Amino acid sequence: MKRPRLGFLGVGWIGRHRMNAILESGEADVVAIADNNAYVASDAAKNAPNACVVTSLDELLDCDLDGVVIATPSALHPEQSIAALDRGVAVFCQKPLGRSQLETSRVIDAARRANRLLGVDLSYRFTNAIDAMRREITSGRVGRVYAADLVFHNAYGPDKPWFYDAAESGGGCLIDLGIHLVDLALWMFGDVRAYNVRGQLFVNGRPFVRDGRAVEDHAIAHIELEDGAVIRVACSWNLSAGCDAEIGATFYGTRGAVAMRNENGSFYDFTAERFEKTSRITLASPPDAWGGRAAVEWTRRLARDARFDESIASLEEVARVLDSIYEQSGGQAILPVLELSA
Ligand SMILES: NC(=O)c1ccc[n+]([C@@H]2O[C@H](COP(=O)([O-])OP(=O)(O)OC[C@H]3O[C@@H](n4cnc5c(N)ncnc54)[C@H](O)[C@@H]3O)[C@@H](O)[C@H]2O)c1
Repeated sequence: MKRPRLGFLGVGWIGRHRMNAILESGEADVVAIADNNAYVASDAAKNAPNACVVTSLDELLDCDLDGVVIATPSALHPEQSIAALDRGVAVFCQKPLGRSQLETSRVIDAARRANRLLGVDLSYRFTNAIDAMRREITSGRVGRVYAADLVFHNAYGPDKPWFYDAAESGGGCLIDLGIHLVDLALWMFGDVRAYNVRGQLFVNGRPFVRDGRAVEDHAIAHIELEDGAVIRVACSWNLSAGCDAEIGATFYGTRGAVAMRNENGSFYDFTAERFEKTSRITLASPPDAWGGRAAVEWTRRLARDARFDESIASLEEVARVLDSIYEQSGGQAILPVLELSA
């Protein structure tokens, strides 16, 4: 076991949160911090007194790092991740890893080539609620799962301008929130491939047409999997949701169902249950400090083994599904139907 030496690139809202979570875990040394905004970097460094503050990724990578945690605006993720991996440094990157499947695959290829661990902050996988539901599904208690409904409606939108520029963010609510839903769904179904995707995007209540700059604020998608299962996904920003947020995921099986819901509109508190006809039992309930768990787990894994883990390649399929939904909004070709095995 090696105690990892970590650098942090981008310590705005989420970067700072994840850095503090790793510091609190005591699993790594935070040795360097870089952010375009000097004030943001030095303010974050107050919590990491042994870290030096530098001004660029190159300087960060000169600090003899084992890993870099990237939380910059989304368009920067692929280039910055690949630069770190090419220098032999493991990466934990915020979602989305790329704005498209092509960008996502390029980063994964770089990690495979460098044989370095690559993690992405798909943080909802690490909630107690999803963990309990996944155990129910894999134990076979709910039978064969064949349908799922997932929603993430946010009564607010992001408060930083770059989120509203597709060149910088890759898109709107779909790549911001829907990525979590599509990832969770495919992961819970055991990384089965999607073979047919239909999606509709809206902006201000009208059909959204991509122009490379504007972004969607509501997305609805219907995803059929190779094994015949169907996933329905809906997400939005600035929706009249009747509360701060509506977040939920239900997976229906032949002998029961599992579901998670946020409590009282909370972004952080979730309850998970198993349903059998009209009865329900609680699987998980708040409190659950899950926000930094993916980052801390990546740090622990890095300490044990810094080599590439092939399981990250499942994100290429998530990106392919998102690409397909975006392509449909642009009037372009939809996801090509895969060759189904006999
Ligand atoms: N995993 C999750 O659930 C989750 C939640 C929120 C945000 N995110 C993702 O985290 C990323 C950051 O989001 P945020 O809300 O923290 O944004 P933010 O704007 O608060 O933070 C981004 C930071 O990056 C800095 N920065 C910009 N360009 C840089 C560069 N070239 N080098 C170094 N620093 C640079 C900015 O100064 C800023 O401090 C986004 O990709 C977002 O999608 C993920």
